[in-house]
Amino acid sequence: MKQALHVAIIMDGNGRWAEKRGEKRVKGHEQGAKVVREITEYCAAHKEIERLTLYAFSTENWKRPRLEVEFLMKLLEKYLKNELEVYIKNNIRFEPIGDTRAFSASLQKLIKEVKQKTAHCDGLVQSLALNYGSHDEILRAVNKLRDEKKDITNEMLSNALDCKHQVDVMIRTGGDHRISNFLLWQISYAELFFTDTLWPDFSTKELKNIMEEFTKRERRFGGLN
Ligand code: IPE
Ligand code: IPE
Ligand code: MG
Repeated sequence: MKQALHVAIIMDGNGRWAEKRGEKRVKGHEQGAKVVREITEYCAAHKEIERLTLYAFSTENWKRPRLEVEFLMKLLEKYLKNELEVYIKNNIRFEPIGDTRAFSASLQKLIKEVKQKTAHCDGLVQSLALNYGSHDEILRAVNKLRDEKKDITNEMLSNALDCKHQVDVMIRTGGDHRISNFLLWQISYAELFFTDTLWPDFSTKELKNIMEEFTKRERRFGGLN
């Protein structure tokens, strides 16, 4: 298998997973966070995967009921506090993407701290997309570059984005076939996988199957073979 793959996942279906069980939506988020750890550890142990970028909270998710948003913020805080040890143990570098300035000061501090404390790790890079939207990311990049005197190149724009790396494998769980404003620039030639599995039911076994299927796909990048 080609080395240094970038896998991105739209982790969808938490709410429906909980509702199916007669539970509150937030139960699904809680279970979903456990799956994040499992999948991250799996990727860390599989050296052909270099990057794992996970859609955790979109710029549009603020539209949800206040209580759900608050729960997600608390869950993120809890997850990051617990995860620091797991990141270090597995040599995982945490590189969040998205505009985290919208978060509380304490959450911003925690995000920065986990980033700094894992900066030396040179195994898997796990990027959580936090208050992330592709349009927002591209606009922030363009605004960073707007005083350039020369024409903006592909490389300049790529490097001004939060996520500077093209995606190889894009997975969406939860049964919907859409991208929901995730990594639009970076998925130009990604192989897309959609599964009906709700995120809390997603497993390393299913990821393994997808990665196997990926190796069978012929990527032509506009060429002939
Ligand atoms: C994805 O699950 C997690 C977030 C967007 C935070 P959802 O919460 O969107 O779950 P469904 O799609 O409503 O089932
Ligand atoms: C996408 O899921 C965002 C995340 C997984 C964080 P949504 O549930 O927000 O997407 P839509 O609304 O179904 O497009
Ligand atoms: Mg959803």
